Amino acid sequence: MKAKSARIPRAFIDDILNRVDIVEVIDSRVQLKKKGANYGACCPFHNENTPSFSVSQTKQFYYCFGCGVSGNAISFLMEYDKMTFVEAVKALADKIGVQIPQEHMPEQRQVGLNVYEVLDKAKTFYTQQLAKPAHQMARDYMTTRGISDACKERYAIGYAPPGWDNLLKHTGDSPQTKKALLEAGLVIRKDTGSMYDRFRDRLMFPIRDRRGRTLGFGGRVFGDGEPKYLNSPETTAFQKGRELYGLYEALQAARHPELFYVVEGYMDVVALADAGIDNAVATLGTATSAEHIHSLFRYASHIVFCFDGDRAGREAAWRALKVTLPLMNDGREATIMFMPEGDDPDTYVKQHSQAGFEALRNESPSLIEWLFERLLDKINTNSLEGVAKFINQALPLLGKLPAGVLADLAFERLAKLTRTNVAELKSRLSHLRRIGEGASQDEPKAPPVRRPKVASTRRTPMQLLVSLILQFPEFAAELPNDILYASDSDVRGLALLQTLVLMIREQRLANTGAVLECWRDKPEAKMLTKLALIDYNLDKDSLLNEFKGAVGKVEHELLGEAIERLMTKAALEQLTDAEKVELNQLLMQQQRLA
Ligand code: GTP
Ligand code: MN
Repeated sequence: MKAKSARIPRAFIDDILNRVDIVEVIDSRVQLKKKGANYGACCPFHNENTPSFSVSQTKQFYYCFGCGVSGNAISFLMEYDKMTFVEAVKALADKIGVQIPQEHMPEQRQVGLNVYEVLDKAKTFYTQQLAKPAHQMARDYMTTRGISDACKERYAIGYAPPGWDNLLKHTGDSPQTKKALLEAGLVIRKDTGSMYDRFRDRLMFPIRDRRGRTLGFGGRVFGDGEPKYLNSPETTAFQKGRELYGLYEALQAARHPELFYVVEGYMDVVALADAGIDNAVATLGTATSAEHIHSLFRYASHIVFCFDGDRAGREAAWRALKVTLPLMNDGREATIMFMPEGDDPDTYVKQHSQAGFEALRNESPSLIEWLFERLLDKINTNSLEGVAKFINQALPLLGKLPAGVLADLAFERLAKLTRTNVAELKSRLSHLRRIGEGASQDEPKAPPVRRPKVASTRRTPMQLLVSLILQFPEFAAELPNDILYASDSDVRGLALLQTLVLMIREQRLANTGAVLECWRDKPEAKMLTKLALIDYNLDKDSLLNEFKGAVGKVEHELLGEAIERLMTKAALEQLTDAEKVELNQLLMQQQRLA
């Protein structure tokens, strides 16, 4: 009979991996030879004559350059001695003479909720709250915004009541549930350690993945509060550059819709659905990403981008154009649709109904047509200089198109407009590409003198931070709070970095092997292992400098985001006095960092 589900406490595993020495463990089975800072041997996991198996004492980690196996002391015993996880931990515990304190958890499932469960529970809680007599005001708001009951159901719209701990109380406060709430971004932890609900007194829009699981929320304030929309922070489960609001609901209505409308706001999606257009999706306050477009093209061959008719809208459209061009395989179609100035899809469809909205779409240009229109608007092609400018701006864009009929047609069009021929244009394009490659090598931003080995080349600052912390867990202490507690940010990988640092600090993890243990069997494990294995060839002091440099870059990025958010607001509406002061301060800070 199988042993009763018993769990080894996490802290115990951490402790073992901090205390045991992987070199001793491996050396007693495979003889190791000191090789520089590490130990080496012929790999016990594949056949070889020259040793490519390497064990690091400081990292408490092994790696084979030949076959790619890697792991900590637990992994080694599991692989080499074919032990189970529990047996491996027990063997290591015996080695250092301690006993496994077994926590008996006969019904582990009842101990608490996981991330998806708390998100689902929150969704249900918010919809129940919206139905409560006491919250008439939230329902009134829905009425003034013209949201029907059918739409409320379809999008599972809810209400987060005012108060600091409604959700916390509702979900119960087992440690596991609290951890899940925190991980899901539903609660925020203060420096003192106590927690409070993130969403309070807001209309709640659950964001669901393709399977219908709730991943996060957007919460709209009633009236003029700030921010207008509060979104769940990015977590490993919820990445804004990947998810689209309304996609699940659209696919419920039709598995393969004729087309998708891509709009900017939650309200736009809901209003369009209410008007009978149930195939609209919204990006989550971020720019349209290639991943968004890619996933939409899996279900439909036509995407219609809807933008506001102002300058911000045109700029957003231009960004979307650049991202979409490389994905325009033959058979795919994209349309750029602008609302009249002052309207968004929500207000427009309310005024003009489904038929009016579709009429506007029918007179909207295709992506390529709009590209030419924009360039013709900007550049006068009556002079030779104008023609040259036109060609130089159009070519890199058309060059993004995948080879095919559409690309051929676009090049022909350009040739006709500029009275040249396709062959000439193509040779000009390859010339531009060669110059482009040369130019990007000495980007003006790069420091004038470079050391031969710079840790940051070709890696994002975020990857560098994660990688260095994995290799030197003590660097976790150096991460400043403005990064550690940043929320409502789209910076890629931020959530992972935050989790990593909190884990190391809270669990006092002392080496790479112990840190990676926390990700055993998790989807991120492979990527983290890769980052842990990067060899920087620099001493620790230099790496700490690299680390600080990357911290500065991420702070800069976060600052840029905050500024962008305020600038966008300034462009679309008005900033309050407090916001103006804040913007000023942020801009000054940005100058100082530059
Ligand atoms: P309504 O004013 O309710 O009609 O919403 P809207 O969709 O017209 O809002 P807007 O055009 O201002 O914003 C479009 C989208 O940008 C929203 O749906 C949000 O996803 C995002 N957004 C708007 N304001 C904020 C904000 O203050 N913070 C964040 N994080 N996102 C916002
Ligand atoms: Mn709106």
